[in-house]
Order: sequence, then structure tokens, then C-alpha cells
Amino acid sequence: MVAKNVRVGVIGAGLIAQVAHIPAYIEAGAEVIGISDIVESRLKQVAKKFSISKTYTNYKDLLANPDIDAVSICTPNYLHAQMTIDALNAGKAVLCEKPMAMNSREAQSMFEASQKAGKLLMMGFSNRFRGDAQKLKQFIDEGKLGKIYYAKVGYMRRRGTPKGWFTVKKESGGGPVIDIGVHVIDLTRYLMGNPKPVSVSASTYKYFPDYRIDGVYPWESSDVKEGLRDGKENDVEDLANAFIRFEDGSTVFVETSWAANIEADRFYIDLLGTKMGGRIDSYNPIHKGSKNNEGSIFLYGEEMNSLVNYEVKTPEVRSHFEEVRYFVGLLKDGKPDSLETAKNGVEIQKILDAIYKSAETGKEATVK
Ligand SMILES: NC(=O)c1ccc[n+]([C@@H]2O[C@H](COP(=O)([O-])OP(=O)(O)OC[C@H]3O[C@@H](n4cnc5c(N)ncnc54)[C@H](O)[C@@H]3O)[C@@H](O)[C@H]2O)c1
Repeated sequence: MVAKNVRVGVIGAGLIAQVAHIPAYIEAGAEVIGISDIVESRLKQVAKKFSISKTYTNYKDLLANPDIDAVSICTPNYLHAQMTIDALNAGKAVLCEKPMAMNSREAQSMFEASQKAGKLLMMGFSNRFRGDAQKLKQFIDEGKLGKIYYAKVGYMRRRGTPKGWFTVKKESGGGPVIDIGVHVIDLTRYLMGNPKPVSVSASTYKYFPDYRIDGVYPWESSDVKEGLRDGKENDVEDLANAFIRFEDGSTVFVETSWAANIEADRFYIDLLGTKMGGRIDSYNPIHKGSKNNEGSIFLYGEEMNSLVNYEVKTPEVRSHFEEVRYFVGLLKDGKPDSLETAKNGVEIQKILDAIYKSAETGKEATVK
């Protein structure tokens, strides 16, 4: 039997759709047959570039196309919940960009809509597909680290505040916590076996809302890139730290920034297990462009009464492309989603809510 082609629609024709979702679908052998955006010039240009036959300025018209099996939601965060729920109700499978939503109430309704519709909902937690993360997960599943009881993790940028809707709370839901912290919190919890979060103590800071540094080119929303918006509005944090407690007694300390006076950008996960420690560490000095240490994981333990360190080389993969390949694969062979990113996405969103609540009240917040 020849498997049916997966036919996809993409909602939001901005940067992540252009650099990741659309080319990744094409590479994974899916057909992108429809695209929607409210900026007509961008919509037409992207459709032409990728030979997408149907364009829609209203995403609901895309959802009404019966030929479309699945959609990617690539719009600003405040639109994720409504668009995902509408798509699921229209019978489409959904790959929704991170963060899942603006808050856990929205995230919960998205998860419930997928259950009710019996349709796949996957979140764009692309970092789970990194080569180093996959290898570390394999070692953890084989029991090499033992029980992981503490993790110190971060997603820190020296100067990398994105411009546009990202810095406007009513459109984004917050700053680095919801934009990039979400990635490292999800990946850490996944590596730890998805323990249930119970409380959070956090602080947020805002000291660099409008820096100007020669040679630093941050991620810009498409509207800012095309001069449709000045990108100056900013009412969100630029750094946060949080101490997260889980029901099984394990804890995570996380730090995340868009701007901070540190040596370099860094994405790191230090896991302490009872048998071994495991570390992922991507280090990216600003202006140099290249990444140090990506492509390795580090393990620390003891053997024959001696301390041992291992560096394990891992393949560098394009994580967004692997994420889309996984999504298309699930649709093609109808297998259940073992990563359960929607169910876990609700828990992650609860942690994000608690980070903001704790920072606001100055007290530990219960995760509900
Ligand atoms: N996984 C990652 O590493 C990663 C990286 C970057 C962005 N993202 C996520 O991707 C999403 C999009 O980010 P981006 O950088 O592409 O932003 P962007 O601003 O470049 O693109 C968003 C697009 O959505 C369009 N849009 C807005 N309202 C719409 C509507 N009602 N109907 C249809 N289209 C509409 C905009 O016109 C724009 O073209 C965000 O949720 C962001 O957090 C994820």
C-alpha cells in the first residue's frame, strides 16, 4: 500500500514559517498546499517562493479547505490558542509553535480540544530534536545517569532581544521566559522524565529595553524587518531566574535572558544524576557566529575508584527540520505521539505562569 501524501497548510508566513516549517515540510515529503497571512504582500511573496498554490488572508478560509490534513501555526503567541482550537475543530492535525499559549488556561483548552477532536496536537519544542539532547536522552533511558535529582540550566543571551510583537506583553505573554526559557525548561523536564511541578520561586528584571550595539542583529518580527512596525515598544522582562520544585523532590534552577552583561550567549543543561552527571553546553560568543561545544555531550562519574569524564561527539542536526519530519511521520504512519508535547506543554505553561506570579508577588508560587 502506498502511504497517502500529507497535505499541509501554514498559518503565518513570517520568519519561522519561511526558514523552518515550509522548507522542512517540503524536505519531509509533505505537500504545502495553502498558506495564510494578514499581510498580503508577504503572503503572495512567500507563496511564490515556495510554489504554494492557495493563499488566504483569513485563516478560517484555509481551515475550510477539505484537502488540507494538517496545519502549522506560525503566528505571534497571542493567536496560538484560538487558531489551534479552530484548526482542531475543523479536523486538522496541528503543529503549533512554542510557546503553547499565553497562559496555562489557554494551553489546557488547546489540549482538551485535541482530545475531543481526536486529532494530533504537537508543540514546536524543537530543542528536543537537537543531536546532543537526543543522545543524552538515550543515555538517561538506558539508566546511565541514575536518578536525576537536580539540574542547573540556562538559555542566556548577551544582547539578543527580538524586535516587534515579541516585546509587547499582550501579544507575546512575556519576555525571555516565554520565548526561550520555555525551550530549556521543556527540554530539562523531558530529560528528567517529566516530573510534576509543584512550586516556583522566581525573579524577573528589566534593565536593557532599548540598547544599541554595533554589529548585533537580533531576531526581528517580519513586520519590523519590512518596516511596517518600529519595534520600539517593550513592556516585558529581559532576564529571569527561577527555582522549580517537583513532586518527586527533584529541583531545577533556570536562568534566561535576552540581554545581560555576560561573556557570551549560552544554552546549557547540567543534570546531576546519582550515577553520573550529564551536560549539554552550547556557547556562542557574540560577533563570532560559530558555536563552540555544540556537537558534544559531557558525562561525569566514577569508575574503578577514579573520577572519569567523557566527551561524547553527537551529530549536529537541524532541530526544526527533525521536529517537522517527526510530525509528518506521525501523520503518515498513524503512530501515537510518544513525546506527548501537548500534554507536557500544559505543564510547562503552568511553570511559566508560576514564574511570572512568583516574580510579581515576591513569594513562592504554587503550580496549579
Ligand atoms: N521554535 C523556535 O525556535 C522559534 C523561533 C522563532 C520563532 N518561533 C515562534 O514562531 C512564532 C512566529 O514567530 P516569527 O518569528 O515567525 O514571527 P513573525 O512576526 O516573523 O511572523 C508571524 C506572522 O504571523 C502573521 N500573522 C499575524 N496575525 C495573523 C493572522 N490573524 N492570520 C494569519 N497570519 C497572521 C504575521 O503577519 C507574520 O507574518 C512565534 O510563536 C514564535 O515564538 C519559534
